[in-house]
Amino acid sequence: MDATGQARCIPPRLRAASQPNAGGDAAIGAIQTRFSKRPLDTAGGKCETPGATFNQATAMIPTATPQSLRHTPDAAGFFGPYGGIFVPPPLKAPLAEIRQAYEIVSRSHDFIEELRRIRRHFQGRPTPVYHAARLSKKLGRTQIYLKREDLNHTGAHKLNHCMGEGLLARYMGKKKLIAETGAGMHGVALATAAAYFGLECDIYMGEVDIAKQAPNVARMQILGARVIPATHGLRTLKEAVDAALMAYVQDPVNQIYCIGSVVGPHPFPMMVRDFQQVVGIEAREQFIEMTGDLPDIVAACVGGGSNAMGLFAGFINDPVALHGVEPLGKGTVLGEHSASMTYGKEGIIHGFRCYLLQDDKGEPAPVHSIASGLDYPGVGPEHCHLKDTGRVSYVTATDTDAVEAFYVLSRNEGIIPALESAHAVAHAMRLARENPDLPRTILVNLSGRGDKDMDYMIEHYGTGDNFGI
Ligand SMILES: Cc1ncc(COP(=O)(O)O)c(C=O)c1O
Repeated sequence: MDATGQARCIPPRLRAASQPNAGGDAAIGAIQTRFSKRPLDTAGGKCETPGATFNQATAMIPTATPQSLRHTPDAAGFFGPYGGIFVPPPLKAPLAEIRQAYEIVSRSHDFIEELRRIRRHFQGRPTPVYHAARLSKKLGRTQIYLKREDLNHTGAHKLNHCMGEGLLARYMGKKKLIAETGAGMHGVALATAAAYFGLECDIYMGEVDIAKQAPNVARMQILGARVIPATHGLRTLKEAVDAALMAYVQDPVNQIYCIGSVVGPHPFPMMVRDFQQVVGIEAREQFIEMTGDLPDIVAACVGGGSNAMGLFAGFINDPVALHGVEPLGKGTVLGEHSASMTYGKEGIIHGFRCYLLQDDKGEPAPVHSIASGLDYPGVGPEHCHLKDTGRVSYVTATDTDAVEAFYVLSRNEGIIPALESAHAVAHAMRLARENPDLPRTILVNLSGRGDKDMDYMIEHYGTGDNFGI
């Protein structure tokens, strides 16, 4: 502890005094009182026992945060020029309330311990790293490894931040969780969190995605959530976010918005990253244990960017190439893809600044990807910053690439990937084919399982008999 009674290992951004808050003083006061009896957590990371490694099953926020990520975002929520809070006045106080509550609970012993317990006993963490040896052999000398987030409870990485957001909601005394969903994985994960914590749940989903991801709609409903269609515009993910934000403004006292990725106004990009970094921390330790070394390349698909940020966080300070894989859809023309970082330019969407696919008037452009969870015109602000600094390379994979990877992984490894994750697998396959004699290792985040995509794939591509290698 330092002179102010704070643990030395608490990141500077968490030491900052809370900002004034017009909306939630009573709630924050209650949270402060509750946690004043317990010391700040010092047991979650390297700082308490110098040189000790993390227990991969329990790696947690925020003491585990890699040094270089501890300084981002700044107090106003900016990662370089990206991020921030660009919202109408009625949303400012509710966001300040969430930020203050998060800053208090995320360094509290009780919150961290409870989330650790949930991860181990409810989610089934740690998820394994798997060597896709058969696939690798067919492609050449590159060895492909998969971080199996498809084996996380509910079948995707989304539950990592949903259980954190749900726990925060419970500490804040909220009654209802609301969110948007594209592929339905975030919706299912949040509906699961709501059931676990005994809270109500409303999920906003574009009409087009409701039709495309029917199994996930049924899962959300069985879990007790209301699925509310977004019927304007392209009726996909962007419109679902519009609708969820509108609903949140109506009653920020009883509801909390649990965003589905590292997007939106501060503090969501930081909070979701912190909850997701368990993926990278586990994967780094597991990979070294398996191979005795770090991977040469770490790759993940990028929609909003949460699974990629989670995995990259574990390797950000290592001599490892980080590749974010964006969806190139049907082609390079605006409207045919959702590759925001590759083709977008700076703009504001849903309360934050990022690389944005936009039309002549600066409005978010129509986007497309075969993977509903990737078709969003913006992207997480931290990714934009990581692109500008050169730490992460952003590449693309098309719908066709993803379809091939979907079937090839299924038939060669017995793992049916989500179409989103198939983009990252496709990238690894391409690298392996380009240099078949190069003996290198690629760790791919298999962010989710493909059950939700089965009906769509069977209808459009059959059972995959044409996709051998
Ligand atoms: C399985 C899976 N992977 C990836 C994504 C993309 O989201 P993010 O970029 O936030 O990881 C989604 C979104 O729904 C998803 O369901």
